[in-house]
Amino acid sequence: MNRRLTDSIAVEAVDLVKKFGDFTAVDGISFAVPTGTVLGMLGPNGAGKTTTVRMMTTLSAPTSGTARINGFDVLDEPDGVRRSMGLTGQAATVDELLTGRENMRMIGGLYGIGRRVLKERTEQLLAQFSLTDAGDKTVREYSGGMRRRIDLAVSLLASPPVLFLDEPTTGLDPHSRNELWEVLRGLVDDGTTLVLTTQYLEEADQLADRIVVIDAGKIIAEGTPLELKQQAGAASLVATVTHSADLAAAQALLAPISDDLFVDRHARTLTLPAGGLADLTHVARVLDDSGIAIDDLGLSRPSLDDVFLSLTGHRAESVPEADSEGADA
Ligand SMILES: Nc1ncnc2c1ncn2[C@@H]1O[C@H](COP(=O)(O)OP(=O)(O)OP(=O)(O)O)[C@@H](O)[C@H]1O
Ligand SMILES: [Mg+2]
Repeated sequence: MNRRLTDSIAVEAVDLVKKFGDFTAVDGISFAVPTGTVLGMLGPNGAGKTTTVRMMTTLSAPTSGTARINGFDVLDEPDGVRRSMGLTGQAATVDELLTGRENMRMIGGLYGIGRRVLKERTEQLLAQFSLTDAGDKTVREYSGGMRRRIDLAVSLLASPPVLFLDEPTTGLDPHSRNELWEVLRGLVDDGTTLVLTTQYLEEADQLADRIVVIDAGKIIAEGTPLELKQQAGAASLVATVTHSADLAAAQALLAPISDDLFVDRHARTLTLPAGGLADLTHVARVLDDSGIAIDDLGLSRPSLDDVFLSLTGHRAESVPEADSEGADA
C-alpha cells in the first residue's frame, strides 16, 4: 500500500475519456489531489461524475487516459489501486439481508483482516457512526441515513488512505448530513484523502479544499471554493428598505452611484456592484441623509450557486430542507 510515501499527490486523473458507443460521457478529465486534502467534483445529473469515479476505482476501463491512486496505475496495477482506496457508491454496496455487524464481518473477511482486529475495528466503526445499537438489525430495516453510515463504515474497514465518495449525502436530512460531514472532516484530519462527488454546492463549499466543476463530461471550472466564488464576479452591496413604499425614492437616490442597480420589490432590496468599503459608507450616508428607513445594509459575496449558474446556465440542486430520515428508509 505504501508505494509512494513521499509522493504528495494521492490521486491523479490523466486525460480520462469514457465513451459508451458514440456517446462521450467523460471527455478528457485531468486533476491531481494532494495527500490529505478533499477534492469536490461538482456537477449536475449526467455530468459524468460517477463514470469518472468508476474509472478511477478500477470498476470501469477508460476508453483512453488513466488514473493513479497512491502511485498505482489503474490500468497496470489495479490490485495496488484497490488496496489503496475505499469507495462508497451511489448504489449501496452492503447486503440488505445481513445485519450491520454481519456486513462488516463479510467485507472484512474479503479484505483478509484477522478475526480479532476485525471485531475490534467493527465495534469502533459502529460506535463512530452511531450504529452500535442497530448493529444486529438487518440493513433492510435501516433508515436512509443509517444505510449511508453503514456503507461508509464498511468502506473504512481497511483504513484506506484514499476514499472515494459518490454523492455521500444525497437523500439525507440536514441532521444526518451534518453528522456525516463531521465524520468526513475527522477522516481528513487523520490524513485521509477524499474525492467526493456532489450535486450540492453547500457540500462542496463545506468540505472541499478544491473543486472541479464538471458539465457534459468536461471540467468547466476549478479552484478553491473562494476562487470560484470570486470568479463569478465582485461582491455586491445590498440595501433592504423597511417600507416598500420607499423603494422608488431609494432607487432614484442610488441610481447616480451605479447604472447597474437592481431592485427586488418582493425582498425590498436594492443591489449594486460594490467597489469596496468606500461604496458602502457612501450608500449608507446617502440613505441616512434622505431619512429612508433601512433594515439592513451589507456586502454580499456571490454564492457557489451563482458560480454554477454563470458557468452552466442552470442552477445546481439545492440541499433538501426537511427530508426526514425515516422517510427514505
Ligand atoms: N453503462 C452506460 N452505458 C451508456 N451510457 C452510460 C452508462 N453509464 C453512464 N452513462 C451515461 O453517461 C453520462 C454520465 O453518467 P454519470 O452516471 O457518470 O453521471 P453523474 O454525473 O454521476 O450523474 P448523477 O448526478 O445523476 O449521478 C450520462 O448521460 C449517462 O446516461
Ligand atoms: Mg452519479
